[in-house]
Amino acid sequence: MAKLIVSDLDVKDKKVLIRVDFNVPIKDGVIGDDNRIVAALPTIQYVIDNGGKAILLSHLGRIKTEEDKAKLSLRPVAERLSELLKKPVTFVPATRGQELEDAINNMNDGDVLVMENTRFEDLDGKKESKNDPELGKYWASLGDLFVNDAFGTAHRAHASNVGISSNMPQAAAGFLMEKEIKFLGDAVENPRHPFVAILGGAKVSDKIGVISNLINKADRIIVGGGMTYTFYAAKGLSIGKSLVETDKIDLAKQIMAEAGDKLVLPVDNVVATEFSNDAPHKVVEGNIPDGYMALDIGPKAVESFKKVLADAKTVVWNGPMGVFEMPNYAKGTLEIGKALGELTDATTIIGGGDSTAAANELGIAPKITHISTGGGASLEYLEGKELPGIAAITNK
Ligand code: 3PG
Repeated sequence: MAKLIVSDLDVKDKKVLIRVDFNVPIKDGVIGDDNRIVAALPTIQYVIDNGGKAILLSHLGRIKTEEDKAKLSLRPVAERLSELLKKPVTFVPATRGQELEDAINNMNDGDVLVMENTRFEDLDGKKESKNDPELGKYWASLGDLFVNDAFGTAHRAHASNVGISSNMPQAAAGFLMEKEIKFLGDAVENPRHPFVAILGGAKVSDKIGVISNLINKADRIIVGGGMTYTFYAAKGLSIGKSLVETDKIDLAKQIMAEAGDKLVLPVDNVVATEFSNDAPHKVVEGNIPDGYMALDIGPKAVESFKKVLADAKTVVWNGPMGVFEMPNYAKGTLEIGKALGELTDATTIIGGGDSTAAANELGIAPKITHISTGGGASLEYLEGKELPGIAAITNK
């Protein structure tokens, strides 16, 4: 369903509340990766270029104690935003009250303001995360218009997205939200075939929903990473000390029966005696020997996955093929990333932190059609679930 977009709004002279997802990795006040801030720029720029006042709301991390507040202030993010926009950004260290209201009322057209981490409200009865009705109403009262550009948070029904939307006559999607819905939506609903999904990561349980939803839509589903060995166990192969979810073996059997040869498992693996980069390791085909654990897919698996990818027209990739953070077990993930970057006539979509990190490390990010800013949100989208943050945006 088409959504109202920020460009459908007349933002001139208006106080425009924009929910962004500035939940970026941050340590000692230093931002590790500013992709999510960069991805929000087109919407912010549009609002200020068209004479609106941009009032930004975001969460950062999870606030459980008073001490978390110092580590998770949005101040460094506001500073980074100011550098990126090349203009001053006002930061207000409050999520409500006189100081915030005065700062908003003093804004000129084209100004940008960032308020403090919306989850500071969680210390008082989880008001943000539980979508406290009074909080959503209060935040809505601070602006004239509401734009939701926080795709990464769309799987949460919180006060700063769903709460504000439900207290405004209209809620529009920002350009990032629009782009995410378009690429992920087209991949799931209207893919060019062959459509190949590559799913990795530690747990089958994290990807079950995606596999179930894609089983009738994708032409092939490539499985790698730790979740592979639950499928190995379901096939009756020995798995040594590899990761396994014993309570999911029956489910893995069901999936294999349903998917038939759509499901592609690695034929060989890099196995090691310990979960350590320096542990003795080797490549084995099929059964994993006793005393060994599989930590990456092997070279034959890489070749067979590449063959499947060669004529793909749509590829969705979520999750690493091995223990990507240890150099000896990173090859499978890097090779798959490289293969994706080499596809010239395919729509390629990456979601999830590790696959995105692999794409960045390989420098192939510019060759990927769309790198989603959503981790949990992109997975739930691929599961075919309705995301509350998107559902609350006005339909056109
Ligand atoms: C994310 O990084 O997935 C989103 O920003 C949501 O964060 P959360 O999992 O803490 O709700």
